[in-house]
Amino acid sequence: MTSNPYPLGLRLHGRRVVVVGGGAVATRRVPALLDAGADVLLVAPELTPALRAQADAGRLHWVPRRFVPEDLDGAWLVQVAVDDSMAAASVSAVAAERRIFCVRADDRTAATAWTPAVTRHGPVTVAVLGGGDPRRAMTVRDAIRDLLAVRLAPDGIAGRPDAATGAAGGRQAGRVALVGAGPGDPELITVKGWRLLTEADVVVADRLVPGLLLDELRPDVELVDASKIPYGPSRAQEEINQILVDRALAGAFVVRLKGGDPYVFGRGGEELLACAAARVPVTVVPGVTSSIAAPAAAGIPVTHRGVAHEFTVVSGHLAPDAPASLVRWDALAGLHGTLVILMGLKNLAAITATLIAHGRSPQTPAAVVQEATTGTQRVLRSTLGEVAADLLAAELRPPAVVVVGDVVDALDG
Ligand SMILES: C[S@@+](CC[C@H](N)C(=O)[O-])C[C@H]1O[C@@H](n2cnc3c(N)ncnc32)[C@H](O)[C@@H]1O
Repeated sequence: MTSNPYPLGLRLHGRRVVVVGGGAVATRRVPALLDAGADVLLVAPELTPALRAQADAGRLHWVPRRFVPEDLDGAWLVQVAVDDSMAAASVSAVAAERRIFCVRADDRTAATAWTPAVTRHGPVTVAVLGGGDPRRAMTVRDAIRDLLAVRLAPDGIAGRPDAATGAAGGRQAGRVALVGAGPGDPELITVKGWRLLTEADVVVADRLVPGLLLDELRPDVELVDASKIPYGPSRAQEEINQILVDRALAGAFVVRLKGGDPYVFGRGGEELLACAAARVPVTVVPGVTSSIAAPAAAGIPVTHRGVAHEFTVVSGHLAPDAPASLVRWDALAGLHGTLVILMGLKNLAAITATLIAHGRSPQTPAAVVQEATTGTQRVLRSTLGEVAADLLAAELRPPAVVVVGDVVDALDG
């Protein structure tokens, strides 16, 4: 007769968990045990490279031999991750004798505990058991994960990220997250960035943020379009900083959504300092930066074995001879590697002329990638000597990234 399993959340912090086996199954099981703070003892003659790295880093104890009963001394749980069912049965027999729950990869019916399919959403952990069918458990888990990401935040299950830890009864303290939205394709936001976006009360978005991400916000979310703030760039930045601080001090969870990565020419640092000065807690969620993603989307790796051992990301928003420029274009001309120029279309003629004047060959391959990773992406391939003229002729426009270096042709068959 089979009866229903009894679900539990094991609090393993500092508690001994023995894992027997060092192959693929153990490789998948160990990270969650470490994440739970378990004191992991791994018993296996051989380890996969990933497990070996955990052992070398001192995150677990490895005994490089076969299992002996004494390995279970002091254990709260044992995971048997070996294919050999005789060996697995002997471990679970010792575990049963000592009343230690035993998970078995080789034979679920012989196990005294099952591992569920899990999804985590901030402080919420959902664990699904599929009645002995792991695939069914995973299908249900995936459906719940999607639901949590999109639907449950409005009703406050996830609520604000610190909802579970805030002071009882009172209004939650506000906070800000600086979130990188990625280069343009809405699917290129990170999982964490997306989760925080679904939890936001206020979203302050940049011009280059993928519109589809905003389309999916809850109707009650206040959306501030930072690109519509009047005044010049510096006054507008002050205004944005003020909005972040004011809304957070009023108790809101504010997501500042920025194109690419918040710290790559994104003024994220200034926003962080403004929040810190007002004692508003800030989380920074890195994003996929256009400086790497735009070349990649055009089939250009920023480094390539035997071709480029470095890449430099540089802003071209000031002309090389502008007094305020902080860029040593003469030094960049002497590098062999890849140069990725952001915000450089307007000054491209002056930039390429300066690079050539300081020694970079005019034959160096160059490319321009406009609106990368979006449905309107355009790619122009040229050379350092010609790219500025070709760009005008092709009527390319911002946002675009210019790539200079032999990597431009590296993947061409
Ligand atoms: C103010 S910077 C912000 C960069 C952003 N923080 C990042 O990490 O991608 C704006 C510049 O990024 C580049 N850029 C951003 N998105 C782009 C895209 N989808 N395609 C090409 N270039 C892009 C352009 O050079 C644009 O002028």
